[in-house]
Amino acid sequence: RDESTFTFVLFGGTGDLAMRKILPALYQAHRDKLIDASGRILAVARAAPDLPGYLEWVEENVKPKVPKAEFNDDDWRGFLERIAYVQLDATQQADFVKLKDTLETYGGTRVFYLATGPSLFVPICEALAEQQLNTHARIVLEKPLGYDLESSKAINDAVGAIFQEEQIYRIDHYLGKEPVQNLLALRFGNALFEPLWRREWVESIQITIAEQLGVEARGDFYDQVGALRDMVQNHLLQLLAIVAMEPPHALDSSDSVRDEKLRVLRALKPLSASDISKVAVRGQYASGVVRGESVPAYATEKGVKEGSETETFVALKVEIENWRWAGVPFFLRTGKRLAERTAEIVVNFRPVPHSALGPGALRAGANRMVIRLQPHESIRLYCLAKQPGEGMQVQSVYLDLDFDQFFKGNRMEAYERLLLDVIHGRLALFVRRDEQEAAWRWVEPIIDEWATSGKKPKAYASGTWGPAAASAMLAQHGTYWFEEEN
Ligand code: BG6
Repeated sequence: RDESTFTFVLFGGTGDLAMRKILPALYQAHRDKLIDASGRILAVARAAPDLPGYLEWVEENVKPKVPKAEFNDDDWRGFLERIAYVQLDATQQADFVKLKDTLETYGGTRVFYLATGPSLFVPICEALAEQQLNTHARIVLEKPLGYDLESSKAINDAVGAIFQEEQIYRIDHYLGKEPVQNLLALRFGNALFEPLWRREWVESIQITIAEQLGVEARGDFYDQVGALRDMVQNHLLQLLAIVAMEPPHALDSSDSVRDEKLRVLRALKPLSASDISKVAVRGQYASGVVRGESVPAYATEKGVKEGSETETFVALKVEIENWRWAGVPFFLRTGKRLAERTAEIVVNFRPVPHSALGPGALRAGANRMVIRLQPHESIRLYCLAKQPGEGMQVQSVYLDLDFDQFFKGNRMEAYERLLLDVIHGRLALFVRRDEQEAAWRWVEPIIDEWATSGKKPKAYASGTWGPAAASAMLAQHGTYWFEEEN
């Protein structure tokens, strides 16, 4: 088999993810000439009858998703020429014969991308194995991979019986974001920060992923999932693992970073049922105003069950039981319909041991590093400085690194980077089975407690920063959520 080229088989070819993320990312990779010219995209779906029908759907739905500045007609035409189509019902094994026949006419590494619901992962893998399509192939699984530890293990066992772990690419798109990669450069490329990156110097760490959007068209999916499974089990715990892990030996192997992340995930302090009300806050958005527009309550969104108790907001206090981090609280929070769209990591350093500048300077002078991942990538290092003029009036100021100003030009989107990694066989930015299961193991007591406690999520007005209990949790530690305008 010619490994220099590829056939990218896209299950769920007319789905939401294919439309919003995967096909636009493949177009971008084609336009940037980052994929082999003879590589094919073989879309698979039930909805479109044939290739012309599918291409019509792509024109109508995918084209508008490509940012205007990155679109041009010639590249678009070339991109469409790469696409082939097979109509297939993923629950019908017999339909996979058609897929096999089509695939036999194409060469290169086979990538099977399952942009479908997780209930189809196992049937699709079994049908691929039945047709002996599981060798010399890679399989990409989208989240959510399961609903809890048990169901994720069941999927991993079934997929693992057909594909080797080195063939399995579990996507967490946060790992493909440029600033998340940059975090590795910041931590391990500079001598300045790493010596301070530990309990002796760090008082607490906050990680926030805040969205202004609501559940949009995904109400019936989201209502069965909620923010803990949708964001915390994966994106937030992955960010935490990267922030807290030990320096890896090198970044060039699939496992060096994954091994270190796993150590952190396994060191998360387990939560008992009685801890949970103290260290976990869950909320659900009520109506309110976001960016000047009135928006409805979660409970009235399309697809959401009446009286739903699904959370759209989570705040947590997490501890890591190892020498580096013992006793340092990591505060995590995420939510929909919040005041701002932002993703950021805030490292709060301890104050100086004695302030010659007076007691007021002690707190004001505590250094803080704010690593913003979105909407704009920046790093701010807060320090104390003297105000100009007579006397010694001090003030907190920041050193500012704005990546958009420093590095001009287009950014690679997370999905483009990750799809290129799959096509080129690079596993480092994908979640290994043991990492994923360690994360499920840690969140499981929270899932169980929330399911059985009989307590409802706390309502918060859309356009705010979530329930007051999330701020109260930090106040108990003498701190507050750092919220700075973008
Ligand atoms: C997805 C979640 O994984 O991440 C969505 O399923 C969420 O609910 C999205 O909106 C957020 O990603 P980003 O890249 O927009 O921050």
